[in-house]
Amino acid sequence: MSVVGIDFGNLQSVIAVARNRGIDVICNEVSNRFTPTLVSFGPKQRYLGETAKTQEISNFKNTVSSLKRIVGRTFADKEVQEIEKQYLTVPLVDVNGQLAVKLNYKGEETTFTITQIFAMYLTKMKEIATHETNMPVSDCVIAIPAWFTDVQRRAVLDASEIAGLNVLRLMNDSTAVALGYGITKTDLPEDKPRNVCFVDVGHSSYTVSIVSFVKGQLTVKSRAFDRHFGGRDFDRMLVDHFAAQFKTKYGIDVKSNGKAMIRLMAGCEKLKKVLSANAEAPLNIESIMEDRDVSSMMKRAEFEELAQELISRVEAPLQKALEDAGLTVDEIDAVEIVGGSTRIPALKERIQAFFGKDLSSTLNQDEAIARGSALQCAILSPSFKVRDFSIQDITNYPIKMTWQPTPEEEETELVVFNKNNTIPSTKILTFYRSEPFDLEAQYAEPESIPAGINPWVGRFSIKKVEPINGEAACVKVKARINIHGVLTVESAYVVEEVVKEELVEEKEGATEDLDAPLTRKVKKLVKKGDLPVVSATSSLDRSLINELREKEMEMIASDKLVVDTEMAKNALEEYIYDTRSKVNGGIYKDYINPADKEKFINDLNDAENWLYDEGDEATKSVYAAKLAELQVVGGPVIQRYRESDARPTAARELREAINQLMSQATSSEEKYAHIPEAEKNSIVEKCSKAQTWIENKEERQSMMKKYEVPAITSAEIRKMRDDIVYFATPILNKPKPKPVVVEAPEQPATPEPKASPETKHDDSKDMDID
Ligand SMILES: Nc1ncnc2c1ncn2[C@@H]1O[C@H](COP(=O)(O)OP(=O)(O)OP(=O)(O)O)[C@@H](O)[C@H]1O
Ligand SMILES: [Mg+2]
Repeated sequence: MSVVGIDFGNLQSVIAVARNRGIDVICNEVSNRFTPTLVSFGPKQRYLGETAKTQEISNFKNTVSSLKRIVGRTFADKEVQEIEKQYLTVPLVDVNGQLAVKLNYKGEETTFTITQIFAMYLTKMKEIATHETNMPVSDCVIAIPAWFTDVQRRAVLDASEIAGLNVLRLMNDSTAVALGYGITKTDLPEDKPRNVCFVDVGHSSYTVSIVSFVKGQLTVKSRAFDRHFGGRDFDRMLVDHFAAQFKTKYGIDVKSNGKAMIRLMAGCEKLKKVLSANAEAPLNIESIMEDRDVSSMMKRAEFEELAQELISRVEAPLQKALEDAGLTVDEIDAVEIVGGSTRIPALKERIQAFFGKDLSSTLNQDEAIARGSALQCAILSPSFKVRDFSIQDITNYPIKMTWQPTPEEEETELVVFNKNNTIPSTKILTFYRSEPFDLEAQYAEPESIPAGINPWVGRFSIKKVEPINGEAACVKVKARINIHGVLTVESAYVVEEVVKEELVEEKEGATEDLDAPLTRKVKKLVKKGDLPVVSATSSLDRSLINELREKEMEMIASDKLVVDTEMAKNALEEYIYDTRSKVNGGIYKDYINPADKEKFINDLNDAENWLYDEGDEATKSVYAAKLAELQVVGGPVIQRYRESDARPTAARELREAINQLMSQATSSEEKYAHIPEAEKNSIVEKCSKAQTWIENKEERQSMMKKYEVPAITSAEIRKMRDDIVYFATPILNKPKPKPVVVEAPEQPATPEPKASPETKHDDSKDMDID
């Protein structure tokens, strides 16, 4: 079972796998180390990842992007409507309160929720990993932004389940980077921590995290974000600039045309990247719209001027992260940059100026998150043994619980998990109740979570609560932020105060008082039984997940059938072309019976015509049947051709074996002297028979036409060779008789060695992570 980490990026995702020798990034089907985060739909099948990218422009109305931005969101979400919509090319709709897309799949208008679309993308991630590692993939760690809320995290978990992945941890992406950094550093201090600031500017989002390292441990001190700052904002800025320019220069309104916008967006991204390494860059787009070609250029200075406001936004999260960590710039020992957009020189300069020190890039900026996630997966997986490294991660948003007041208790809410609470973590809440009650969980500072996301987290109903001896029962409720950063109420139970007798310990030096009691009565809390908890969260119902999993599997099978059908069709087409040209004057011409030739060529021609006519849309089995039909005649022709080549080789090898065995069996060498003559003669006889056999067969074959059924096959010749070799070898290798040994005087018996203590075999593999 492979152990993988997935960096779920908004533009592209990266998969890494843990192996004994360390962590490797996996290449996809076109040998890229990252896969576009895109899902697209066609008349026959889905296109996932790279194949979706190739038709992003031609099929933009059925291509879903920005998955990371919209997973776990709702249709009414302000950010979805006001921001994300600008980057999406498919219509959004609401399906039972969930955000969904409406598109054309298999010729029909279809809606899929974003959770489903994300599951489809994960199916692709799974397939890439399975293909590369040649092993089933189930356990994985998925990296997500630390700013994902409960509902977003649960949506990712639901999608993973639909895709058949077992998520060992949803890991905050910046923590994955920190893990990859820390576990490979052999020079971490024992006492005074090393403070490192990780800066990740990706396609859509910007994260700063300050992490302190000591030997064997990382502790996340603080984290700050700009959730709307990344490469796409620079692209958008350039699109606005050039769209305005083209309006005056060419009189075209790019923004009015969906396809033209995608082309311009792609052109601007390219220009931006070129500007990272060059002083100026061209922008040329052929046939952007209305059959017009456009061209322009930009100097880096102009880009920086335009991007000034954007670039200045890089500072606020740096400042905030430092403040929250309670550190000054001087206390930061290193600044590590990751994410594609940190390649923009002006951005780098601004970060560098903020810290007043050089930036380090000891990590691979595109792969650090995936590598860290794979390492975390290896740590959590029983099949690996990884150097001990403790990870102290923190939550981002405080969570409070509320409940109905009781006559005795006015308090109705409590912040159970503060911001920066460790993950995972469990808290026990105590209530005095005589009847079942509900706890409502929500984010305590709604303004700190992404605008548009409902701060409600879940409702947990504690059932079967009854008074005990006429008084309110003491109910303990275990609330947990689990390893995924998701809030759960794990259990609830009643405790009762009981009076117990306890032995009184004798105190040293105490004067003896014979009347003093030897025991005393103490009050103790005792667990009296579990209470059922019914959770209502944003996770999908189990039955719905199962239903969606079924649907996903059906779509996987359907996509596979399309691919298999295409392969069967190609195989038939290739057979027709290849065989026809070879039979018709090519290498097979002498191996087909002249009486069959004309009909066979006609059959091939008919099959070709059929393929381009009614056979264009046939099923896999029809293509396979057609091919098998042609192979009835073609197969033996090809077989006879191949035999004509294989036969002489097999005959030569048989003759070589005969000659060698004959010479060994008639040799006067000392090493064969002990073998009885009769046995040597049997070898000679066997070889002579084989010699006669092959000569006769070859003579008969030489008199036959090439298109006739051969008198002998290469397989028969090889069998004859095997026969004589298996017959002769044991005789020729017979060991010489041993010289007679004089018996030695009897030795005293040595005791049997005692069984050594059982050695424990540890099947887990040590991983080399340096
Ligand atoms: N040489 C470069 N110069 C400028 N920008 C670049 C360069 N190379 C890549 N980028 C930008 O980096 C971004 C992609 O970075 P990355 O792969 O880190 O994003 P992501 O992980 O997909 O997104 P996110 O982290 O927001 O989910 C794109 O906007 C891309 O244009
Ligand atoms: Mg990223």
